[in-house]
Amino acid sequence: MTKMDRLKSAQALPLNTILAGDCVAGMAALPAASVDLIFADPPYNLQLRGDLHRPDNSRVDAVDDDWDRFEGFSSYDAFTRAWLKEARRVLKPDGAIWVIGSYHNIFRVGAALQDEGYWILNDVVWRKSNPMPNFRGKRFTNAHETLIWASRSEGARYQFNYEALKALNEGIQMRSDWVLPICTGGERLKDAAGDKAHPTQKPISLLHRVLVGCSKPGDVILDPFFGTGTTGAVAKMLGRDWIGIEREAKYREVAEARIAKIAKFDKAALEVTRAKRAEPRVPFGTLIERGMLRPGETLVSATGKSARVRADGTLVGLDVTGSIHQVGAALEGAPSCNGWTYWHFTKDGAQVPIDVLRQQIRAEMRESG
Ligand SMILES: C[S@@+](CC[C@H](N)C(=O)[O-])C[C@H]1O[C@@H](n2cnc3c(N)ncnc32)[C@H](O)[C@@H]1O
Repeated sequence: MTKMDRLKSAQALPLNTILAGDCVAGMAALPAASVDLIFADPPYNLQLRGDLHRPDNSRVDAVDDDWDRFEGFSSYDAFTRAWLKEARRVLKPDGAIWVIGSYHNIFRVGAALQDEGYWILNDVVWRKSNPMPNFRGKRFTNAHETLIWASRSEGARYQFNYEALKALNEGIQMRSDWVLPICTGGERLKDAAGDKAHPTQKPISLLHRVLVGCSKPGDVILDPFFGTGTTGAVAKMLGRDWIGIEREAKYREVAEARIAKIAKFDKAALEVTRAKRAEPRVPFGTLIERGMLRPGETLVSATGKSARVRADGTLVGLDVTGSIHQVGAALEGAPSCNGWTYWHFTKDGAQVPIDVLRQQIRAEMRESG
């Protein structure tokens, strides 16, 4: 796709709006390969029969809505395959999808994902720190939901902000079991009568982790089962664009009012920890071209070695010539050397690693890009 095509397709997108109606039709109206990430919280097909009561006889506000009713597994499967097919069409080749579900539906969704050509990257268990008890005491407390994360196809690229997730987890690699509370208290949206505005509102914390980990500012995030718009609310906070699709007018109204009140975090707050390999490459020669170092200038190492800079970005030290890495390795008799941290230049009488100059250029690149 050319830059112009990309621009045209971005303009055609109904960004930051909620499309009314069925999600299969809604997605069919979107251009192919236009969305970076999909978060889908589809009907779970809970198949509840009769009311559920607590031990004190109060009625549990369970999901018994029309939108969660299907004639049977085959009609649920047909629906699942139809929306997954459209979702895959609108995803960019390096886009990805997250689908959340429970034991009622997630295994069927997983099989459908694979059959439709997606490639499963992980399943994540969202362990609820405050689950609803099993009132009848006949089964285990249902204390988790499962999310499946999949790329558009096998071998496709996808966004994964490994370092940002690690930072979010206090420096420890993020695991696939997430302990987060269900949506309660002030976060839970209420209707005019004070009842829950939606039976299955997802917590902001869950979407925060998904979007920080698997998207970047400016990405287009699609949620075909928008409900109260948790995905849109978090996307807006995080400086992502979003598109929602929701069939029920009452939920669309709740979501619109909710998102209108959300403020986007400022640009600096949206910066996340990046993997070193994701940083733009800066050749050592750029430092010479930019006049940050001069041909003929001497670089020194902490071990007392020295070399002179040449106009083409190579170094000469004793009887060896080559890149900052090659000369450092040769002088140390080592198999390899990171020249960026090995070599120092002199500034105001102090010896400073040349990596500082590279970081300066990268910071400028980030500001301008
Ligand atoms: C499980 S809820 C999503 C809740 C949402 N994640 C939130 O945090 O509020 C599923 C939503 O999808 C909507 N829905 C169900 N079937 C739909 C369809 N075919 N097209 C569009 N929306 C649909 C329902 O009305 C419901 O609001």
